[in-house]
Amino acid sequence: MAPRPIIIDCDPGHDDAVALLLAFASPGELDVLGITVVAGNVPLDHTEANARRICELAGRADVGVYAGCAAPLERPLVTAEEVHGETGLEGSGLGQPAMALADGHAVDFIVETLLAAPDGVVTLAPTGPLTNVAAAMIREPRILPKIGEIVLMGGSIGLGNVTPAAEFNIYVDPHAADAVFASGAAITMLGLDVTHKALITKERLAAIGALGTPVGDAVAGMLEVYNRHHAERYGRVGGPLHDPCVIAYLLRPELFSGRRVHVKVETRSELTMGRTVVDWLSVTGEAANATVIDDIDADGFYALLTERLAQL
Ligand code: BDR
Ligand code: CA
Repeated sequence: MAPRPIIIDCDPGHDDAVALLLAFASPGELDVLGITVVAGNVPLDHTEANARRICELAGRADVGVYAGCAAPLERPLVTAEEVHGETGLEGSGLGQPAMALADGHAVDFIVETLLAAPDGVVTLAPTGPLTNVAAAMIREPRILPKIGEIVLMGGSIGLGNVTPAAEFNIYVDPHAADAVFASGAAITMLGLDVTHKALITKERLAAIGALGTPVGDAVAGMLEVYNRHHAERYGRVGGPLHDPCVIAYLLRPELFSGRRVHVKVETRSELTMGRTVVDWLSVTGEAANATVIDDIDADGFYALLTERLAQL
């Protein structure tokens, strides 16, 4: 079977970086048409440079990196330097990228790529705030039937990680997330319920560090910084490796399980802004608009990740 064409929309960010590397390490299954970048974990000038650094690390400077929206649709940007460091890739040891940004805006790239493709073929894999994806849908609704699937990291059935109610990606741009969930596109949501089961234990980190390659060293360095933050902030050994779950789901969906449900995003209450209201028990009678994943074979996920990173 031909590799599945995907656009990765991201805000690197340590875990976005690992997601990109996992995708690049899987050319038999995934054809990365382009990387579109959004402001999120850090401002856009850092996220786009970080995407280019990761392309170079993976030997994939041929893939276009397109800079997108520098701010959410309606709210001021909220960033997460306390998690990912000032540049967003603290600990990676990577220098400034030499490869250039691709010409054109990320939203134009998404629109043009989808319009040029047959219906239902291209998968979108967002791992940051959904600003670029929503902006593309708003600008050109004809892209909707073109989207095969949107497999995204964001939201939660239960806990929040930026407020008690909301997960970071959805909180940063709740209006964009609301537009995406209401779009009618086929959506798979990997939220905190599942990513908090994909913890970077000492043993899993050591296995990546033991690869002894530039990619293994960079990933281990980033995840050490990431784990240190989670240990200091939450007293937890092993941070949740959110974004690579999206790519792992595309590669090995049998590692995951979930349920078809209705999801709506809170955009009005300051108290619960950005909450994904997941109708897990189907109490509203609303038709399902997403598959919400809530479980993972975490050992299988880390085995896949480590084995693929070894191939870069
Ligand atoms: C999400 O927020 C970001 O900090 C991570 O990169 C991930 O996409 C987790 O809430
Ligand atoms: Ca991210």
